[in-house]
Amino acid sequence: MITSLHLKDFKNFQNAKIKLGPVTTLVGANGSGKSNLCDAFRFLHGIGRGYTLAQIFGGALGVGGEKVWEGIRGGAVGCARHGQEGFAIKLETLHESGSDETLVYEINVLTPKAPHEPTVRQEQLLMEEEEVYAAKKESLQDVQFSLSLAGLPDGNWDIDDKSPALYDAWKLSQNVEEEDPSGVIDLNEAGYLLGSLESLKSCLGEIRFLDLVPDQLRKPCAPGQSVLGARGENLSGVLQSLLKEEKNSQVLLSWIDSLLPHEIAGIEVVPVSPSTVQIALHEPGGNMVDGDRVSDGTLRFLGFLVALMTADPGELLFLEEVENGIHPSRLHLLIELIESQAQHRGIQVILTTHSSTLLDFLNKQSREHVYLIYRDRENSSGMVQQVMALPEAGNIIEKQGLGKLHASHWMEDSTLFSLPDPEGE
Ligand SMILES: Nc1ncnc2c1ncn2[C@@H]1O[C@H](COP(=O)(O)OP(=O)(O)OP(=O)(O)O)[C@@H](O)[C@H]1O
Ligand SMILES: [Mg+2]
Repeated sequence: MITSLHLKDFKNFQNAKIKLGPVTTLVGANGSGKSNLCDAFRFLHGIGRGYTLAQIFGGALGVGGEKVWEGIRGGAVGCARHGQEGFAIKLETLHESGSDETLVYEINVLTPKAPHEPTVRQEQLLMEEEEVYAAKKESLQDVQFSLSLAGLPDGNWDIDDKSPALYDAWKLSQNVEEEDPSGVIDLNEAGYLLGSLESLKSCLGEIRFLDLVPDQLRKPCAPGQSVLGARGENLSGVLQSLLKEEKNSQVLLSWIDSLLPHEIAGIEVVPVSPSTVQIALHEPGGNMVDGDRVSDGTLRFLGFLVALMTADPGELLFLEEVENGIHPSRLHLLIELIESQAQHRGIQVILTTHSSTLLDFLNKQSREHVYLIYRDRENSSGMVQQVMALPEAGNIIEKQGLGKLHASHWMEDSTLFSLPDPEGE
């Protein structure tokens, strides 16, 4: 589980830290920086997937020339705060779910204007404050990194500053034994630290971003899929795999039945061509609503349901503007779904929302992790404020409800009277 994120000069954030819970909710005016925070997680996800910086910022192609990664809004230069030539991101995560060993990862990136490429200036991973690896350049002009990796004598690793060193360090850690047949390395000690590279790489690589689009959700697709695409691709194929278990069918049906105002007798996935399948809903009396006619909101809800039911424990899901297309009277279902899956399956969720109604449905634990993203009145940089830490927040929220305070601008106004976070660096 990722426990905190600290941004320096990333997009509109000069210096902002956010602590994450099982369910973290980001609210704030248009243009305050919620999606910029999402971009920071996308940057980290790109590192976990082993991309170069040019690919992370600009997009990556697969072996067949198809786009497998979108790049980040604004590219490298757009990720550094206006007037800055780089940014830093620090992340804290637990080594394994259930453990309390903390990993701290930090990367500092230079983003010069074209024709120069973005480069890594410095990078480090600590486990329980012990260094797992550190990569740095002797000077800004240097291309080669000097990399120190736990337990290994300093070597002349062939690593340059065009890619984050995490992936290379992880690969090196895989064959430490072969690297050192003489047995100079204390493999027990090194192995303990090096195990954390795998943990961080998969933690970052498994972050998922969902921006579900009804047209993608309803499209027929190949059967037997296991992963829902970021825009909802493959919904029917993943659903088909889930429906093979009777227990899953019951769960899916009961959620959709609660969502819709009319009764649903069954959810099915049916062939629509020799190579594709598509979702269909059964109504009582034998009517069948095929995928082309299922409503947009139903599809989006199903998309979230399927994504949460198929996420691996420990995975982080980033969901932007979750309320889109869902009727306010049904938003409690969406929140119940997210909170229950986060709790029972050990998934972590970050959501952004503009819905005051949705905020009123958050449970007590999730309310602790509602953050207001706003602009500093003096220098306009992005600020992150835990809503429960605003003066008198507990009492006022108890009396008026979070939604009403959200809609009335109370949160923004209260930041005028809040003290700076003592942990802010
Ligand atoms: N490199 C940068 N330096 C400073 N500010 C930036 C930078 N890049 C983006 N911004 C600011 O961030 C704003 C966009 O923020 P973002 O997309 O995160 O908003 P949001 O909170 O998601 O809003 P919405 O609710 O409308 O989606 C831009 O309007 C711009 O002012
Ligand atoms: Mg946004």
